[in-house]
Amino acid sequence: MESNNYNPAIRVQGLTKSFGEQRVLDRVDLEVARGETLTVLGRSGTGKSVMLKLLIGLQKPDSGEIEIDGEEITTMPLDELNRIRKSMGFLFQNAALYDSLTVEENVAFPLRMRRLPERLSAHFAGAGPTSRQARLQLGTLG
Ligand SMILES: Nc1ncnc2c1ncn2[C@@H]1O[C@H](COP(=O)(O)OP(=O)(O)O)[C@@H](O)[C@H]1O
Ligand SMILES: [Mg+2]
Repeated sequence: MESNNYNPAIRVQGLTKSFGEQRVLDRVDLEVARGETLTVLGRSGTGKSVMLKLLIGLQKPDSGEIEIDGEEITTMPLDELNRIRKSMGFLFQNAALYDSLTVEENVAFPLRMRRLPERLSAHFAGAGPTSRQARLQLGTLG
């Protein structure tokens, strides 16, 4: 679209991400217009999920820019990033676990978000820190 005030919902420029020696994304450019539906196709392990994690700020790129609604998110502090994330929906593949967290931390995460430890204290003797609640919940899985 040729227009000076064209402002895409997502604009990615030069996005690069490596894990050790493996360069997963190499200077990726991408624009998604408001209302546009974009499907990203590729064989397993080609970097689709890594790109999505970068787009929601769950991981940081080695270089490159990501603008969401005109706002650069790669250098954004977490509280601002969380404001942007409220306009995003994200469905994780498979078990929806954060691979940067341990199993215990994954279980503790929503407990922290919803402040459930207080409410669970009636069911678990001696309400302690959130991680203790997470361990107790994990224990029920056997
Ligand atoms: N946190 C990570 N640490 C190391 N390597 C990773 C990490 N996340 C993804 N990778 C690697 O990056 C490549 C792309 O992964 P991914 O984006 O999950 O692929 P897919 O296109 O199947 O979604 C794979 O080789 C994967 O092993
Ligand atoms: Mg994937």
